Amino acid sequence: MQIIDGKATAVEIKAEIKSEVDAIIAGGERAPHLAAILVGHDGGSETYVAYKIKDCEEVGFRSTLVRFEEDVDEQILIDKILELNNDELLDGFIVQLPLPEHINEQKIIEAIDPKKDVDGFHPVNVGRTVIGLPSFVSATPAGIIELLKRYGIETSGKNCVVLGRSNIVGRPMSILMSQKSMNATVTVAHSRTKDLEKLCASADILIAALGVPGFIKGNMVKEGAVVIDVGTTRVPSTETKSGFRLKGDVVYDELAPLCSYITPVPGGVGPMTRVSLLSNTLLAAKGNIYN
Ligand code: GUN
Repeated sequence: MQIIDGKATAVEIKAEIKSEVDAIIAGGERAPHLAAILVGHDGGSETYVAYKIKDCEEVGFRSTLVRFEEDVDEQILIDKILELNNDELLDGFIVQLPLPEHINEQKIIEAIDPKKDVDGFHPVNVGRTVIGLPSFVSATPAGIIELLKRYGIETSGKNCVVLGRSNIVGRPMSILMSQKSMNATVTVAHSRTKDLEKLCASADILIAALGVPGFIKGNMVKEGAVVIDVGTTRVPSTETKSGFRLKGDVVYDELAPLCSYITPVPGGVGPMTRVSLLSNTLLAAKGNIYN
């Protein structure tokens, strides 16, 4: 069994991005610039956005944080998005989700110019991904594809089971795995799927994105399977300073001895999600997706 080290791979990719940024600046151009809009003070969102800003600093990007209070009017948020859409000194931006209940999340996503949608959430980017056109791809699926490629994991002709059908992870993941570049045979499983144990046990590549800690047990995996654990549920812990720790969808100790490859939690998919946002921002700055 080989552990897929997302943390080390992310460090490697960040170094690659940093050297590209250095070359851009040496060529007399400005550094890539990412902005994040954060509404309210949700602990998880605060942490994620802080990491995104720290990541930008590490690779030499400029970053901007735009904050609104929890009770911000939807139109004020949309006006800000329209302003960022037209800011020529900004390459891409994200609106950290979830948003407060009074705000229509889909309306917000659709207000973002697809050319600056480095989260890849806009229907135009999702649609372009589906038909194989250049697009910004959601960070977690993009990060997983990069891990599979860098570890030289064969996907062609393999049975891939994706657990979960969210717009951000499961759905785009299933689309990417079925594309000609990956050539997997994909099944998307969800809460109404029958005989889930049997289905999981048939997978050569199992991608768990349910958000249910410890859901995938040893009896649900085929010997030699590749297991990608996307779960990052915060569970209370007395052993950490923060008072919580991250728990994956997979019972790691049960699956690891059976697998050919497995991603740990933490240190697997998470760091790759973070680095994919940087990769997308670099693509935006270089005009590689939309000319
Ligand atoms: N909330 C959880 N994950 C994400 C993400 O990838 N992007 C944004 N904008 N919000 C999130």
